[in-house]
Amino acid sequence: QWTVDKLEDNLINNQAIKEAAQILKKGEVIAFPTETVYGLGANAYDESAIAKIFAAKGRPSDNPLIVHIAKREQMLPFIEGISEKAEQLINAFWPGPLTLIFKQKGEIASNVTAGLDTIAVRMPDHPVAAALLLTSDLPLAAPSANLSGRPSPTTAGHVMLDLNKRIAGVVDGGSTGVGLESTVLDVSTEEPILYRPGGVTKEQIEEVIGPIAVDPALKKAEEAPRSPGMKYTHYSPNGEVYLIRACEDIQKHVDKWQAKGKRVGILTTEENRERYTADVIVSSGSRANLSTVASHLYDSLRQFDKEKAEIIFAEVFPEEGIGMAIMNRLEKAASGRYL
Ligand code: TXA
Ligand code: MG
Repeated sequence: QWTVDKLEDNLINNQAIKEAAQILKKGEVIAFPTETVYGLGANAYDESAIAKIFAAKGRPSDNPLIVHIAKREQMLPFIEGISEKAEQLINAFWPGPLTLIFKQKGEIASNVTAGLDTIAVRMPDHPVAAALLLTSDLPLAAPSANLSGRPSPTTAGHVMLDLNKRIAGVVDGGSTGVGLESTVLDVSTEEPILYRPGGVTKEQIEEVIGPIAVDPALKKAEEAPRSPGMKYTHYSPNGEVYLIRACEDIQKHVDKWQAKGKRVGILTTEENRERYTADVIVSSGSRANLSTVASHLYDSLRQFDKEKAEIIFAEVFPEEGIGMAIMNRLEKAASGRYL
């Protein structure tokens, strides 16, 4: 667990972190790095500060935020209780990319939870996030620091591309590590339910607490998701994304659309990149190590915008381990389109 004295002195005494903490205390919003993606934070107790997050992102007000903490005591005033399974998960995975949903007491600003009687909480595993949480001494509600609908930011540069002039500032901590958002797991009910696959895998969770349920909406688009944010189009580059199950088929789709005058991109992997020719070819990482794909996925999607790709064909991955989160984000980027 993070404590002030365990964090490196140069972070706690860092001028940028002190300034950012002051700005947060005044009710403004600041973007900061976590181990997953950059978050856009504000004081979770301050309703008007939270309203600025929704305004800056253009986020629908029915989509609740995750509250970030640096030590467990910070959540005790606002959650209703910790089940035995939740306790085991906290011990196994916090700090880390696992968000837990608890019953709440109504102490946090009501726009954080979009009026729900539950609240999402996580303890990020990033020294800059921890330093900011400890220095401000505030629980920070923070969604990903992108414009609503865009790929989540994994660098301070991505944040600025989306939110420059819309927020008070960004603390630049370099590239984030995991690259995909945290896993969201509801532990407010007897049976935990997975709402969003993410940095902690389903397999890792099940090793600790046994089998868990998965929100059916993760697989069937017609089901209403239990996690409001999962219903929105997400992670989309400007070009249209199509997923292709057999990579042998990709080149013929590329050729067809190039013949129609389109600028075509391919999202591939180290193992396959030499197979193709196209206007824009981006490798997100290696199939032999899917965490490299996770960590570069959003930057890869953003590169197609830089290169003005109009149609993007993407390879798919096995839905095991972190592959489940990668495929969830790719399906959203493609609005579920497979060829
Ligand atoms: O890794 C992450 O989780 C990043 C970093 C910044 O911590 N944050 C993030 O936040 O991804 P956001 O707002 O982009 O996604 C939060 C998700 C949304 O799908 C939202 O609907 C869901 O969590 N959520 C929040 N509170 C909830 C609740 N009480 N019940 C169900 N789902 C909830
Ligand atoms: Mg988001």
